[in-house]
Amino acid sequence: MSKNTPLRHLAIIMDGNGRWAKQKGLNRTKGHEEGAKVIHDITEYCVNHPTIETVTFYAFSTENWKRPKIEIEFLMKLLDKYLQNELLLFQEKNVAFKAIGDIKAFSKPLQQRIYDVQEQTKNNTKLTYVLALNYGGRAEIADTVNRLIAQGKTTISEKDISSALQTPYSDVDLLIRTSGEMRLSNFLLWQLSYSELYFTQTLWPDFNAAELDEIIQHYHQRKRRFGGL
Ligand code: FPP
Repeated sequence: MSKNTPLRHLAIIMDGNGRWAKQKGLNRTKGHEEGAKVIHDITEYCVNHPTIETVTFYAFSTENWKRPKIEIEFLMKLLDKYLQNELLLFQEKNVAFKAIGDIKAFSKPLQQRIYDVQEQTKNNTKLTYVLALNYGGRAEIADTVNRLIAQGKTTISEKDISSALQTPYSDVDLLIRTSGEMRLSNFLLWQLSYSELYFTQTLWPDFNAAELDEIIQHYHQRKRRFGGL
């Protein structure tokens, strides 16, 4: 395997919005608002990158329901507004939007917004933009296995699971987590098996395309051996 494996699938755990806001004496919601702007900039970076085909952002985990109701409601409203605005970028830049996770737990209008944006962008080809919403990696694997059983499979191979996952595009090449936390937090467990991991101290609202570019330079210097020598 070449040491310079092209970067095709980038995944990001966006963390630190709350701490960013607290440091500035602001409400946590302000951190989320700033965080949404950063997603926009990073998406543009990915569109312009020569080899990135897929970017997956972790926006809401199955554990995030434990937050105060008011913060959850804010995040839902922000997501709705964000998708409404972002449709323009997706269409202009040829980006296909896809949500993964159990979005049935969201309000009907928000589900509709998600389906609409998916439907309207489904034939776009420059970049696949995946938003993980009410997503958990273990649940994704368990659901996939159950779907294969329901299809009549009695023996299930790794290949069966890989191709039946909600995210069958490709394994993740590089995972970035912001804010200094060094955890996977139940994100893309199957797809991260051979990924390069990169943890930065930067809080998500302070993250930007220049830092991403630097991280990608580091990625290209790492030797990916995939278990070989
Ligand atoms: C982590 O910050 C962030 C999240 C809850 C997920 C990412 C959410 C956004 C970037 C907001 C906008 C997203 C969309 C798609 C509109 P945190 O609250 O866990 O920060 P903390 O650990 O410092 O408290």
